Parts: sequence; C-alpha cells; structure tokens
Amino acid sequence: MRLNVNDIEENLKAAVIGRQIDYYQQVTSTMDVAREKAERGVLEGSVVVAEEQISGRGRFGRKWVSTPGEDLTFSIVLYPGVWAVSRLTIATAVVVARVLNRSYGLLPGIKWPNDVRINGKKICGILVETAFENDQVRYALIGIGININQSPGHLNEEGLSETTSICHEVGHKVEREEVLQAVLLELSYVYSSLEEWGTVWGDWQKAMEHLGENIKVRWGDRVEEGIAEGVDNDGNLLVRRKDGSVVSLAAGDVTFQV
Ligand code: BTN
Repeated sequence: MRLNVNDIEENLKAAVIGRQIDYYQQVTSTMDVAREKAERGVLEGSVVVAEEQISGRGRFGRKWVSTPGEDLTFSIVLYPGVWAVSRLTIATAVVVARVLNRSYGLLPGIKWPNDVRINGKKICGILVETAFENDQVRYALIGIGININQSPGHLNEEGLSETTSICHEVGHKVEREEVLQAVLLELSYVYSSLEEWGTVWGDWQKAMEHLGENIKVRWGDRVEEGIAEGVDNDGNLLVRRKDGSVVSLAAGDVTFQV
C-alpha cells in the first residue's frame, strides 16, 4: 500500500527533520535523489522516501534490498557543521534503536559502527554520505533502511536468516508511517542537540554488541584481528591484537570469530 506521508509532514512541521517529505514510487537510490536536492539547496531536513529502489546501496558497495510496500527506505538532507558530521552515523543508530525499544519493546544491539540488530539479525542499515568544499560541509545525507513488515530473507551459509523485521519480532504487521514519524521526530531532537553528545554516545556504547569478543575487522585491504576492547570518544573501535598492542579503527566491517 502507498505510504501516506502527508500527515507526517503536517505533524512534523515544527521539527527540523521531516517538514518536507517527497515520496517516490521508484528511484535508483534515495541517496541519488537526496543528493540532487542537496545540490539545489533544499530545505534542511528534507526527506526523500521511496517505495522501491532499483539500486539501493549500503556500506562497502553492498546492495540494500527491501520489499516495496513492506519496508522503509529514505534519505535525509542536512547541512551540519564539520564538527557534527562524524556524530551523524552514531546518532542515527541510537535514534533507530530508541524507537524500536520505546515503540515496540525490542532490545536492539548495535554492531559497530551502526548496524542496528535484534538478537544478531540486522533490522536497519544506515549510510551517511557527505560532500565537502574548502574544508566545509556542503551537505550530509543520511540514508536509512528499516525492515518493517518483510519476512526475514537472506540466508547465510548455515541456512539461517541474517536479517529480521519489526513485524517478525513483534508478531504482527506494523504501520510504516508510525515508524517513519517516530524516527524523524527523534532524529530532529537528537540532531538539534548534537553538542550534548553524552547521552547519545552513552546509549550507543551500551548497545554495542561485541565488546570483549574476538573479532575480525576488514577495511579495504586491511584486516585487524583481536579482542574488541571498547570505543573511544570519536567512535573509533579499539581492538587489542594478539601481541597486546591496541589499534584504533575509524571504519570497517566487523565479523565475529568463534
Ligand atoms: C548498510 O547497512 O550497509 C547501509 C544500508 C543503507 C540503506 C539505505 S536505504 C535508504 C538509503 N538509500 C540507499 O540506497 N541506501 C540507504
């Protein structure tokens, strides 16, 4: 069924994010549409929602696959200061986790840096893309994909599903509009108070799934292996290698070692 964004726009007219929501039936990726809008200088907090993405993308050049009519795929255009950019991915993961907890009673974990998961299964992916000019941020785009009503698909090598959805977790269909509005509202609140970082960062750290575990992190050609010791104030992952040294990683794809 068509997503009804008019009421959300009306309800969020005083918020920074969601005052303007453009709904598309089909796009390549909401990131592409949001980028065009940002290049034209649209209102900060404008949202692009699409029913279907032909080439939805994730981190590390991966595809993002969602079910039209069942899930949510959207991007948000922001014009943050340079200092705020590095906080966006973490803030967004915390916002989605808060909504899943407060509205649906779920207990999400976060796989560093920003995969939101329920019992180890991914329920939301977040992609932040930025454009800089002369050391200033021209714009930042936050792309969010949330599995709402899809049946868990994507089986791994053991034949187990690596993803889940809100519907699957709570046992009934969920209104996509309800989730979209709650996420935009909470993100508006968190984005407007990004200077007060303590609570968001604390929530992020508490939800971190793999601290104390043996992990492998891949980043380009680089691979680091060791115990996930913690995260620092910039959101870097601290990994203690076998030789006892600690390496700080700013990005990467984490896998768990048994
Ligand atoms: C990831 O987990 O690797 C990030 C996935 C991000 C998916 C969202 S869906 C909306 C927006 N448009 C895209 O093409 N990607 C993001």
